[in-house]
Amino acid sequence: MTKEIVLTGITTSGTPHLGNYVGAIRPAIEASFKENIESYFFLADYHALIKCQDPERVKQSRLEIAATWLACGLDPEKTTFYRQSDVPEVAELNWLLTCVTAKGLMNRGHAYKASVDSNLENEQDADFGVNMGLFCYPVLMAADILVCNAHKVPVGRDQIQHIEMARDIAGRFNHIFGEHFVLPEAVVDAETALLTGLDGRKMSKSYNNTIPLFEGEKKLKKAINKINTNLLEPGEAKDPDDSNVFDIYCAFATAEQKAEMRQKFLDGIAWGEAKKELFTLVNNELAEARETYIELMASPKKIEEILQAGAAKARVKAQSVVHPAREAMGLVTFS
Ligand code: TRP
Repeated sequence: MTKEIVLTGITTSGTPHLGNYVGAIRPAIEASFKENIESYFFLADYHALIKCQDPERVKQSRLEIAATWLACGLDPEKTTFYRQSDVPEVAELNWLLTCVTAKGLMNRGHAYKASVDSNLENEQDADFGVNMGLFCYPVLMAADILVCNAHKVPVGRDQIQHIEMARDIAGRFNHIFGEHFVLPEAVVDAETALLTGLDGRKMSKSYNNTIPLFEGEKKLKKAINKINTNLLEPGEAKDPDDSNVFDIYCAFATAEQKAEMRQKFLDGIAWGEAKKELFTLVNNELAEARETYIELMASPKKIEEILQAGAAKARVKAQSVVHPAREAMGLVTFS
């Protein structure tokens, strides 16, 4: 039986926080253990270059993100885990696809459009600060997906447009050169929580409201203590449905624990006490993985070996897709 291929990429900019863990890392790793799927996870380090031209930052972020996924339980035997830049077929396919992609399609890309809009708002030239990487970002993403002929691509809502563009590009190629590519589908999980940040908005690096994932107990505790609350005193009933503390608690709690905490809120638990319980709950879930993370960060060689083995596996698949596509376009040997 052919297995369904599930693939997703993680842009290597920044250090993972609790929102990334709850919204992406934890559900993706859980899903990777399902039977009957073949999963591919990769570090989208080419994508990182679009926004970040600080080599130290790029290097560090790749290492941190690889260590995070491994520490959280990603099994490199069960999934194919690799760096995008270690699979030259991705760059190769990127060019083949570029040549069948309408410029007009890229004009509609929302990441590019957002830059243009903000330039116009600031009375700048429309293209100010826009590099070709940003403009062509959806083609590279299509290459990531089509190079493995993925069926399903789990992503956040903001990425749906890119998956649709990948479908368009695949369809266009197939129409001109014959059936080569699977038309991929986005999978957006309605259940995975968007974690609330310290200030009540979605937890996001750009809002500066994050709780660190693996920066140690002290920093975890300190961040949890900074979660915004109202001024209700101990003993006064608190509304669990209007509390960031309760929201974050729920992302880590069993149904039973949620019900108990709900009751404690109604009974007037002190904010300090609720935060203490939140810390204990989160810390218990993360403590073991944090140890592993620290060990992995201290042995980058081991991470490198895992990623190289992953790239070797990914390349077998990628070559089986890209070689026929090249030939279909006329890039054949003369003998
Ligand atoms: N652009 C995606 C993001 O920022 C990351 C990504 C790159 C990706 N290539 C991909 C996701 C291919 C899914 C499939 O979240």
